[in-house]
Order: sequence, then structure tokens, then C-alpha cells
Amino acid sequence: MGRTILRKPDKELVDFYGIITVAPEMQEFFALVSRVAATESTVLIRGETGTGKELVARAIHKLSGRARRPFRALNCATLTPELLASELFGHVRGAFTGAVRDRRGLFSLADTGTVFLDEVAELPLDIQARLLRVLQEQTFVPLGGTDPITVDVRLISATHQALRRGVTERRFREDLMYRLRVVPIFLPPLRQRSGDIEALAWHFIDQFNQRGGRVVEAIDDPAMAALLAYPWPGNVRELRNVVEYAFAIGVEPVISLADLTPELRGEPPSDEPASPGMAERQRIERALHESGGRKSLAAERLGMSRSTLWRKMRELKITGWPRGSPR
Ligand SMILES: Nc1ncnc2c1ncn2[C@@H]1O[C@H](COP(=O)(O)OP(=O)(O)O)[C@@H](O)[C@H]1O
Ligand SMILES: [Mg+2]
Repeated sequence: MGRTILRKPDKELVDFYGIITVAPEMQEFFALVSRVAATESTVLIRGETGTGKELVARAIHKLSGRARRPFRALNCATLTPELLASELFGHVRGAFTGAVRDRRGLFSLADTGTVFLDEVAELPLDIQARLLRVLQEQTFVPLGGTDPITVDVRLISATHQALRRGVTERRFREDLMYRLRVVPIFLPPLRQRSGDIEALAWHFIDQFNQRGGRVVEAIDDPAMAALLAYPWPGNVRELRNVVEYAFAIGVEPVISLADLTPELRGEPPSDEPASPGMAERQRIERALHESGGRKSLAAERLGMSRSTLWRKMRELKITGWPRGSPR
């Protein structure tokens, strides 16, 4: 056929608590993570969506003196304010309709351990006030309760947007911002990690090869060039999704350009039936299904922002999500 095909390079992968990389830039980052882990400081992880912020939070916990204690994570963007408050602080029986028994919240369940709050910039203001009290006094009152509960938790939080912007727009308390970012650390995007697009593509190909079905042995030159040129706004999560898409779409042992998503091929998603738009539609519907119709969670799965998801849903005329088995 005369096309150049690329096989898996023989590179040593670093696995830092599940963060796979070959990038020299990441070594410095891991050293920093190890240093802050040993302290009790409140850490704020900054990084684009899909860069592995939750993996970093778990690494900090495992490297800390609290490693054998509980670790609890929550994404603040995925719940309604009521559910979020109950999830974090618990509630007493009768606190609201449906609260038929007392329920412990995350802070109580993670006592002596670590709590990780992802997308912390999304917290509603009244919950911000409660969180500030946890950080200042180590106490909180469950919903509908009267007595404060005292806990010992280390807080790690993450955000893809600057908290400062939330402060400027009066969505975020300035005092809480200072409390949260005692130690800010910045997780680089995929496009700034030398060698990682290729290394992680192969890492995920290995994973999908083990599932059975299509077996991929190589990537052809144009496909690799497209992978390397793409800016990866959804970072590692998006790369994994693209590899999964290629496994679902193609049949040959070589991944070619035709197996990649429209974004990767530089085409705008279209809504023509039986076109790449169809595949996009299926991807979105499936993500919506798997996240129970919660758009923020679906967007995270897809490695796109919520506004991008909304726009695509509008363009593809997706109104809800199909119930029943995912396609
Ligand atoms: N360097 C990496 N190596 C392997 N998997 C990764 C890496 N970074 C992220 N992931 C995977 O990508 C997904 C998104 O990671 P996550 O920590 O939730 O990102 P974020 O919180 O920054 O959006 C998860 O499934 C995670 O396991
Ligand atoms: Mg996350």
C-alpha cells in the first residue's frame, strides 16, 4: 500500500499513582506533588479538564500521613445545590422531604482522611460559607441539625478556571479562595507534555486490545500526524475517548485517519445521517445515558465543556437521552 505505519515505540512509561507519562516536564510536577503531600497544607490543583486532577489528588493522599485513612471525592459541578449540601455535610431525619433517616456526609465519612472537591469554583455561595467554616474551625452542622460536628480532614480541591475570576464576578468568596489555594499546583495540559500524546495513545490501545474485538498493531502516518497536531482541549480523557472511538469504528489492525473523530480530521461535526455526525450523536447520547442525563457529567466524560455539549446537542437536535441500554 506504500503508506508509512508506526508501531509502538519502545519507551519506558512512568506510572506515578496511575498517572502515565513519558514527559520530562512531569518529573518536576511529581517532585512538587511529593513535597506538598508530606505537609498538611490545603492544596488547589489547577488544570484543564481531563488532565488527571483527581489522579493527582489521590496521589497526594496516598503519599501523605493520611494514606491509610479514608479518601472521598466529589465533583461539585454534577449535583444540585440541595444534593450537594447533603452530600458534603449530611442531613438529619426530616431535614427535607425524603430525608427519612439521618445520613452522614462526605466530611464525616472522611474524618481523619482527605476530601477532594473537583470543580470547586462551581460551589454555590451558601455552601462556600459552610466550607469556609470547615476550614477555619473544622466544624459543620448537618442539614436540619443543630449541633456542630467536629472533623479532622485535609482538603484538596481542583478547578479548571481561575478562582480569581469567580471572585471578580462575585460568584466566589475571596476569603475562601485564599483558604483553598494555600498551595496552588498547576497540572500541564496534554499538549505541553512532550511525547505523551503518542505514549498515551499506545497505552490506551494496549488497554483496548486486551478487551478483545479489534486488535490494533499500528497507526498510520496521517493518523499519527493528526493526533500530534490536535490541541486536545479535553486532554487525556479526550485522547482515551478518541482511541475508544477508533476501536469502535475501524476493523483493520492499522488505525488510519478514517478511524478518527471529525474533530481530529479537521472537519466540523455534521448531522447528516450515516455520517461522522451520526457517530458523534451516538457518542453524545451514550455519554448522556451513562451519566443519567446529567449534562455536566456527560460533558466531562466526552472531554468537552458544558457549553460545547449544549451547542452540539442543539446542532444535532438531541433533546434528551435514550433510556434503556446504551448504544
Ligand atoms: N496521565 C494519565 N495516564 C492515564 N490515565 C489518565 C491520565 N490522566 C488522566 N487519566 C484518566 O483520564 C480520566 C480523567 O482524569 P481525571 O483525573 O478525572 O481528570 P480531571 O479531574 O482533570 O478532569 C480518568 O479516567 C483518568 O484515569
Ligand atoms: Mg475531574
